[in-house]
Amino acid sequence: MDVKIVAYKKGDYKTLVNLWERSGLPYKPQGRDQEEKIEAELKRGVGKFMFAVMDATYVGTILVTHDGRKGWINRVAVIPEYRHKGIAKLLVDAAEKWLDEQCIEIYACQVEDDNKESFEVFKKLGYIPFEGIHYLTKRKYLEV
Ligand SMILES: CC(C)(COP(=O)(O)OP(=O)(O)OC[C@H]1O[C@@H](n2cnc3c(N)ncnc32)[C@H](O)[C@@H]1OP(=O)(O)O)[C@@H](O)C(=O)NCCC(=O)NCCS
Repeated sequence: MDVKIVAYKKGDYKTLVNLWERSGLPYKPQGRDQEEKIEAELKRGVGKFMFAVMDATYVGTILVTHDGRKGWINRVAVIPEYRHKGIAKLLVDAAEKWLDEQCIEIYACQVEDDNKESFEVFKKLGYIPFEGIHYLTKRKYLEV
C-alpha cells in the first residue's frame, strides 16, 4: 500500500475541511478552525497538520501539537472508504515521530465519551486510558 504522509501547506484548508466533513469529524468553522487561525497556529511552530495521501487521493488527516511537556494527538480522521487499512496508524506514527523530534516523550489524546470506536483505535495503538481526571477549560469566547 503506497501511502505518503505530507504536511499541510498554505492553501490546503479546503482539503482539510473536506476530509473532516467526509469523516464525520466535528469542527469549529467560526472558531479555532478558521483558515486564518489554523495558518497562524501553524506559524507558531507548536503544531503540525498532516495528510495521508494514497494514489494521489487525500484520504486522512491528523493534527499534532505540544505544550512543551506533552504531545497531543488531535483530529485523526480517515474517510470511510479507506478505513481499516492502517492509515490512522501511519498518521499517528508520523505525529509521534514529529513529537520525538521536539524532544516530547509523552503522547496524549482526548476522546469523547460516545466515540467508542476511536477509543478502541487508540488503545490498539498503545494509548492507555487514564482514569480519574476531569477535563476543564476556560475560554475567551464560545466557539461555533
Ligand atoms: C478513528 C479512525 C481515524 C480510524 O482510522 P483507520 O484508518 O480505520 O484506523 P487503522 O486502520 O489505522 O486502525 C488502527 C488500529 O485500530 C483498529 N481499529 C480500527 N477501527 C476500529 C474500530 N472501529 N474498532 C476497533 N478497532 C479498530 C485496527 O484494527 C488497528 O489495529 P491493529 O493495528 O491491531 O490492526 C476512523 O475510524 C475515523 O476517521 N473515525 C471518525 C473520526 C474520529 O472519530 N476521529 C477520532 C477523533 S478522537
